[in-house]
Amino acid sequence: PTIIAIDRAGQEHRLAADTGQSLMQVLRDNDLDVMAICGGCCSCATCHVYVADDWLTALDPQAPDERELVQDSPHFRAGPSRLSCQIPVTDRLDGLRVTLAPED
Ligand code: FES
Repeated sequence: PTIIAIDRAGQEHRLAADTGQSLMQVLRDNDLDVMAICGGCCSCATCHVYVADDWLTALDPQAPDERELVQDSPHFRAGPSRLSCQIPVTDRLDGLRVTLAPED
């Protein structure tokens, strides 16, 4: 599947992703500036992205630990804010559009 990512300068990137990767891994593999300090174990919130409105219902609902962590971000937006390490890439997400959240 192809993931469309908007970096912090507003530039759009079309990324080839493999199913089974997390969205965070896809962003990092393509040198997008995602710190992902915890390596994807849902404890750092430095993989924060905003999911485009029309894609929100395509994603599985957030687990409680993801929700609690992302809500603590100063850049949290109710609705689009997600932790990219908690989004597994599937074929269903072909065309998914996300924007990197500002760094804390
Ligand atoms: Fe740390 Fe996602 S990489 S919460």
